[in-house]
Amino acid sequence: MTSVRLKAGIPCKYQSFLKFAPLSNLNFLNVSLKNRIKIKEALKGDLIDEDIIIKGWVRTKRESKNVVFIALNDGSTMQNIQIVTDPSQFERNFFNRIHTGACLSINGKLVASQGKGQKVEVHASGVEIYGEANPDEYPLQPKKHSLEFLREIAHLRPRTNTFGAIYRIRHHMVFAIHKYFNDKGFLNVHTPIITGSDAEGAGEMFRVTTLPPLNPPLNDEGKVNYEEDFFEKETNLTVSGQLEGELAALALSEIYTFGPTFRAENSNTTRHLAEFWMIEPEMAFYDLEDNMDLAEEFLKFLVKYALDNCREDLDFLAKRQEEEEKQKPQNERSEMTLIERLEFILDNSFERVTYTDAIDILKNSKPNKKKKFQYLIDNWGADLQSEHERFLVEKHFKKPVILYNYPKDIKAFYMRQNEDDNTVRAMDVLFPGIGEIIGGSQREERYDLLKKRIDELGIEEESLWWYLETRKFGSAPHSGFGLGFERLMLFVTGMGNIRDVIPFPRTPGNAEF
Ligand code: 4AD
Ligand code: MG
Repeated sequence: MTSVRLKAGIPCKYQSFLKFAPLSNLNFLNVSLKNRIKIKEALKGDLIDEDIIIKGWVRTKRESKNVVFIALNDGSTMQNIQIVTDPSQFERNFFNRIHTGACLSINGKLVASQGKGQKVEVHASGVEIYGEANPDEYPLQPKKHSLEFLREIAHLRPRTNTFGAIYRIRHHMVFAIHKYFNDKGFLNVHTPIITGSDAEGAGEMFRVTTLPPLNPPLNDEGKVNYEEDFFEKETNLTVSGQLEGELAALALSEIYTFGPTFRAENSNTTRHLAEFWMIEPEMAFYDLEDNMDLAEEFLKFLVKYALDNCREDLDFLAKRQEEEEKQKPQNERSEMTLIERLEFILDNSFERVTYTDAIDILKNSKPNKKKKFQYLIDNWGADLQSEHERFLVEKHFKKPVILYNYPKDIKAFYMRQNEDDNTVRAMDVLFPGIGEIIGGSQREERYDLLKKRIDELGIEEESLWWYLETRKFGSAPHSGFGLGFERLMLFVTGMGNIRDVIPFPRTPGNAEF
């Protein structure tokens, strides 16, 4: 968009030059944009007494006979800029057309503000209305709306302070993830979205097909004949990029994927989405301990990056949550503020505990004995629920926990088997308020053991022949993990529901927008 608009405003003789302009000539492009300033820049106050152009959406308007005040926001920062002007310089009733939600372009001078609450303001000489917003219809008004209501208007919620903050933090976290791995020499690999294999073996996949739903072709057994489908086989949306990530790691040493993943599990919780983003590093020559070290360093880097680069938005969300906490009964209130919870991650080393030790702790815990857990822990082998994970983190260890060496029966086929024949080299990182934020493992690199496990679990070997071949040709010890991006976002923003940390959530019964 920007370059199209730019070119339109630039004299013809430069047009062909611009098409091929090397990067160093981009200054030239910026010069012609000079006058349109993002609000974040304008508020810094370096351009006092300059003529500038500001564009954005109206948050509030106050008008009296001699003066109009408009608070304008363009998403570059939480802060609005105050626009001040004398309505008598404009056509009669011009400002009656401007309400909360309208989009404006303002010409004016940036001046030091006389009023309280802002350093600078714009004295407008020209106001262009790009789009009006009828106050009888526009659903966002300058008051607090519930998060439930805002989910119903997810197309407009980025215009609120809360969602502006969340969108900005999401962006910074994406950037930080790429920065972390790039600086460590990991290569980013794109893995397929449509796949013919079930990476997690959980069977919770969304089918991809172009066969007619009413009368699909059938085979001799009377079942749908996928040989006549687009890919000539059964295909689904991927649940993880790991298996293809492993192929790359077994050539390039250290890689990571960062893509959308899809799970058709019908869990309507505050921590599950049907479509979420996952970061999956995969490293040749790493054992489980190296894997844990990387996971801990990575999470700490991301939390520190948020504190260093998103402070204004985090402070806003922290304040919002403090107000919400006050509504709760005393015993349910969080002991820490959002900022304290983030700093707590940086200050503590993650406790590393085997599954077996964790089961002992849980078996003998108060909530288990008093039957307060929804799922009671009575034997080794039980799958841990979020309530157990949170008990370990929040009540028992009071710091992030990495559980490892899980029973093989509750973990995926690809995890490296331990000598005891019962456990695998799996690890889950557990966080306060969230439970599992990372799941990973050392991978089974031994061909015979991997093949045996695939057979034991009744997985179709034909769909994984290529995966098995990497264990036949130049196999190597290797490890990796998956970080759920929205689980990270839940932790960093302190929001309570995963539907509020992704722009357009996909959950059972909900694929609007
Ligand atoms: O533990 P999971 O299922 O592990 C894997 O998919 C491995 N292939 C990862 C790997 O080793 N490369 O998922 C990894 C993480 C979880 O710890 C959680 O943070 C997140 O993905 N996650 C979800 N996030 C939101 N909604 C869901 N339905 C999620 N399921 C998993
Ligand atoms: Mg898991």
